Amino acid sequence: MFITFEGLDFCGKSTQVSLLKAYLESISLKTLLLREPGGTEISEKIRDILLDKKNSRMVMEAELLLFSASRAQLVRDVIIPKLNEGFIVISDRFHDSTTAYQGFGRGIDLDFITKLNSFVIQNALPDITFFIDITVEEAKKRKEKNQFFNLDRIEISNDDFYQKVRNGYLYSAEKEKRFFRIDGTKSIDEIHNEIKEKINFMLEVKRGIK
Ligand code: TYD
Repeated sequence: MFITFEGLDFCGKSTQVSLLKAYLESISLKTLLLREPGGTEISEKIRDILLDKKNSRMVMEAELLLFSASRAQLVRDVIIPKLNEGFIVISDRFHDSTTAYQGFGRGIDLDFITKLNSFVIQNALPDITFFIDITVEEAKKRKEKNQFFNLDRIEISNDDFYQKVRNGYLYSAEKEKRFFRIDGTKSIDEIHNEIKEKINFMLEVKRGIK
């Protein structure tokens, strides 16, 4: 099973991916957790270029291709082999981030992004995508609380950009059946339980119980 998590920066994804991994391991399932961009030696180097604030001159076309390059490597090097070995693979962000951030956020042609995404991911389409949804106002509140952390090149973007990104996610949530939207203002436990319930149901379906 291939599970991805999506949402605005500060939506709480990272906490939830870790909790889900711990849960799946507690029921003896082999689980691999990845983050995007990154997850292979080459992809981590690309990540450094992408998130480095010194690269403020990066054009959006280069940004799109770098996220895609990082992902192309991760899919072939790690995701497909691990799925074939029977692992449950969880990725903190995947191609839907490109649709939301580069497509809706930056305004790059969506048809082109859709084609590029399928060239990059081939058959590695997620079985389910948890979209942890918070408003831009909520994201801003959380960001201000975390101001002492170093914000990366993308996180320093303005509200207008983030509003477009959120619209992008809402668009995908409408369009894609695999999207499962969760209210990101719920408590950590509530969100974790919703995710667990959904995954348990999917595991039972896979085992032929439901
Ligand atoms: P990261 O520190 O991993 O953020 P988070 O913990 O919120 O996932 O940084 C990834 C940043 O890159 C994040 O701001 C979203 C952005 N991004 C894109 O713009 N396009 C993409 O395709 C991906 C994967 C991420």
